[in-house]
Amino acid sequence: MTKTLTIRRPDDWHLHLRDGEMLRAVLPQTCTHFARAIIMPNLVPPVVSMADAAAYRDRIVDALPTGADFTPLMTLYLTEDTDPEDVASAHAAGLIHAVKLYPAGATTNSASGVSNFDNVAQVLEKMAEIGLPLCTHGEVTDADVDIFDREAVFIDRVLDPIRRNHPALLVVMEHITTSNAVDYVNANPENLAATITTHHLVINRNHILAGGIKPHYYCLPVAKREEHRLALRAAATSGDARFFLGTDSAPHTDENKLLPCGCAGCFTATNTMSILAEVFEQEDALDNLEAFASLNGPRFYGLPINETTLTLVRETPDYPGHIDTPDGPVTVFDPAMPLNWSVK
Ligand code: NCD
Ligand code: ZN
Repeated sequence: MTKTLTIRRPDDWHLHLRDGEMLRAVLPQTCTHFARAIIMPNLVPPVVSMADAAAYRDRIVDALPTGADFTPLMTLYLTEDTDPEDVASAHAAGLIHAVKLYPAGATTNSASGVSNFDNVAQVLEKMAEIGLPLCTHGEVTDADVDIFDREAVFIDRVLDPIRRNHPALLVVMEHITTSNAVDYVNANPENLAATITTHHLVINRNHILAGGIKPHYYCLPVAKREEHRLALRAAATSGDARFFLGTDSAPHTDENKLLPCGCAGCFTATNTMSILAEVFEQEDALDNLEAFASLNGPRFYGLPINETTLTLVRETPDYPGHIDTPDGPVTVFDPAMPLNWSVK
């Protein structure tokens, strides 16, 4: 049995770092394992301009522990007022690596997202021209669409029309949760890719709802049926270059999770690499972990792969059940299975 596994240092292609005290509390959990991360712009207020992104990047860099080797890859939050020239300048300056599309109201802090997709056509045209990826939160928000169908309906009603109108646009379907999304990626050209989270490889909707409601397993897009989880595991562990890791690690304090109307988000930064090694070993695909976590993402984003490495050893990992923050504890995702790999 394999006892150690050394891979190029991984990156996280979808991460929530928040701001202020929370940023300082959660950033060390990511920067010890990951070299880079695509930083989600859903702050309050959101990161909508080049100036916002530059200021947020500086706050992240300032919050890094001494000696940390970590590069935040900034994004802009797409609104109906986004200026194509501001986007182009931020990209030309090397500041931003993607623009994030949230349908208005789809998830945490998405009130400023897009309602009328015609109003962002010029920005998307500019992005296609300059080769800047669009990251999509792929859920419609229509009240009459069942929450378990919102990703599949988004593909038909929003994503496919956008891609037909902008065929050259680079698109990352973020945190996919369905076999429909896997099939859609596989059926389309190479300028379409998808991130998959750690937790969607592990839980299905029964974990959230059977035997009592488990708020710490509630995230958006919500976990679906087992058949969808299996499709995600097959895609992630396949080695296919268009599927890569975006943890969507999304810290919320326990106080904000354990409410009558609790926040969406699973916090997986702490134990993601142990969980992924377990999943890939279960699928007899440890050889493909490096592709998923360290190679496919930079390839899609046109960035070099990391020079340094990360070594996993076959030992029970030791990590805390929660991270302390000045706002209160943040519970670390419970994979509901024994883990056998630790980061050395
Ligand atoms: C994210 C958050 O908390 O910011 N929550 C989540 O459930 N994933 C937002 C998001 O990515 O949808
Ligand atoms: Zn997210």
